[in-house]
Amino acid sequence: MRTLAISSILGLVAFSSLAFASEDQIELKQGPGREAVMANCVMCHSLDMIQINSPFLKRGQWEATVNKMRKVMGAPISDDDTAKIVAYLSKYYGID
Ligand code: HEC
Repeated sequence: MRTLAISSILGLVAFSSLAFASEDQIELKQGPGREAVMANCVMCHSLDMIQINSPFLKRGQWEATVNKMRKVMGAPISDDDTAKIVAYLSKYYGID
């Protein structure tokens, strides 16, 4: 019982620090496609999702992530913007 209470408190703390992370602390690298990311990727979570994941994702994985946001999460992103976003993230935040 006690373990359950502690882990739910920890969960709450982790959640609130994410929710209150100020958007203007997150500065994406300048480059073509940046606007498309800023317009389409902040609806559901902060842009730090991109920075947190950038050490792990290669070009194809960014593409899969953006497609997952569209198909699984239901993000309303056009094909045109998707291409720009994948190109931008692969170039500036990919590991290959
Ligand atoms: C419709 C809501 C929504 C939009 C819009 C959205 N995401 Fe997400 N994203 C989520 C949710 C929900 C999660 C957490 C789900 C999970 O844990 O897999 C997530 C998780 C992530 C992750 C963590 C890795 C992963 O696969 O779960 C990354 C990276 C990410 N999003 C990037 C993006 C990018 C880049 C965009 C813009 C193209 C974007 N998101 C737009 C809902 C969204």
